[in-house]
Amino acid sequence: AEQKESEWLGTPVEELRRMPQCGQTLPHLRATHSHKILIRTDLLKEGHVPVPYPSKYNDFWDDATVKMPCSDQNQFPVENEEGSVLQSRWKLIRSALGREFKRSHDIRDAILSYNTMHAKRWDFTALNLLCEEGMDSCEVSHLLNVTLPKMVKLVLDTPKICTQPIPLLKTRRNQSLTMSQQQIACLLANAFFCTFPRRNSRKSEYGNYPEINFYRLFESGSSRKIEKLKTLLCYFRRVTESMPTGLVTFTRQCLSLSLSAIPKWERSNTQLTRLHITCKGTIEKEGYGMLQVDFANRMVGGGVTGMGLVQEEIRFLINPELIVSRLFTEALDHDECLIITGTEQYSKYSGYAESFKWKDNHKDEIPRDEWQRRGTEIVAMDALKYRNFMEQFQPEKMNRELNKAFCSFMRHGTSPQNLSAVATGNWGCGAFGGDTHLKALLQLMAASEAGRDVAYFTFGDERLMKDVHLLYTFLKDNCVTVGDLYFHLQQYSNVVSKHGQWPNINLYGYIMDKVSTNMEAEPNPGPSDSN
Ligand code: AR6
Repeated sequence: AEQKESEWLGTPVEELRRMPQCGQTLPHLRATHSHKILIRTDLLKEGHVPVPYPSKYNDFWDDATVKMPCSDQNQFPVENEEGSVLQSRWKLIRSALGREFKRSHDIRDAILSYNTMHAKRWDFTALNLLCEEGMDSCEVSHLLNVTLPKMVKLVLDTPKICTQPIPLLKTRRNQSLTMSQQQIACLLANAFFCTFPRRNSRKSEYGNYPEINFYRLFESGSSRKIEKLKTLLCYFRRVTESMPTGLVTFTRQCLSLSLSAIPKWERSNTQLTRLHITCKGTIEKEGYGMLQVDFANRMVGGGVTGMGLVQEEIRFLINPELIVSRLFTEALDHDECLIITGTEQYSKYSGYAESFKWKDNHKDEIPRDEWQRRGTEIVAMDALKYRNFMEQFQPEKMNRELNKAFCSFMRHGTSPQNLSAVATGNWGCGAFGGDTHLKALLQLMAASEAGRDVAYFTFGDERLMKDVHLLYTFLKDNCVTVGDLYFHLQQYSNVVSKHGQWPNINLYGYIMDKVSTNMEAEPNPGPSDSN
């Protein structure tokens, strides 16, 4: 391919590995104590909605699993002459949702009838505005008469579709969960109607989990909420018209569970892997088949149901199956990540943040793997949020980011030729205030250590593309290892902290300067003598 000088640098993107070409054949899909599977694996068949396992609903109400709306234990107190008695909340939900929706206010009334404690606080302006002004009358009537009733049906069928207790993916555990896209649609329909018990207040046993019920989505009349609703309703319309037949796997990975897995950065002899860097394109589009980084919040999905509308929230809106991870994923610790394989993209969008708009249906053509999962692997990896810019150059902060990225990129027991490249970009450098030059380097080091190439999307930043490529070429030419780089970062950090301000040379300039000086002191017998 002819290189358009201004658009990309480094290795041509065609040379980087993608799934499914680079992958190994998967082992048989089989439940283990660290991998729960909510469907009948023996009946899994391409093009057919998977069969839930077991066949009958199993009721659990404990600290290890998701408390379900249809549980017998989901009760609420009612006052009568004899005092306070407990009634089934599921029964109430069923009767509230069984009624016809003639206008958007009926949706509010239904939701509030089983969430009475919140009736004063919850606000449905966005939903009303969408129905009154945001859509034409034909779309409104389709929503009220077709899509919503089918979503209600999914909710009412919960005990038939989600029969097995859903394990919570708790901190400090390596644990996987595979479920069908139908099961996810059912759980998300429940989230839409705010049926999940014990999830409407931060003070419950789910205080360390993201919000799942969608009540915040309906509030405020901002265009953000209207566009979010349009995007999610596009998803619900699509899945209720034609139920997708695949599976999705959620894997929580914790680095410190095997101490030997944490790299000894200062001693690493690893050479840098290949880099493709471009100022055009996005992770989700041009990074197809690669490991795609979600610039996450420790509460996965961040503000997807609230006001947030940057990289992570947009990804969760166009691939809404990601949102169900909020139901069972405890806040990520410093050495943990969540890997999600198999979600589908349902919507196209334009704009970003304030200018975000739902654009159209998207037909996802990513092929499915042997487990009937779309070949899209996304990793939720949360950076640290910096209030003070200099803070990120502290050694322990750099270590944290290196280990977080390494945890997200490394795949135990898979050899490098079977690992796709990492598709990433300005991780932690928007809402979280990080420095793009530092973060690019840390991610490159982590990817190299994990044996993966990098496709880096600078999101329009041409300067950054050139800077990173210049440093990268210099480092490669001088055979600088990950360990050497780590050493120079530590030294830079010392200089920064001693001066309490910027050294009069930037990070990349500093590294190039040090590498050159060291080479003069002890000539490197390496293959290149360029400077
Ligand atoms: N592809 C490539 N690069 C992108 C894309 C994309 N699709 N979208 C944005 N960028 P940000 P953070 C670039 O702010 O700083 C959320 O609320 C763009 O240059 O989303 O890690 C989470 O839930 C952008 O400025 O990530 C967290 O709470 C930069 O990536 C918080 O934001 C960073 O995107 C994380 O903030």
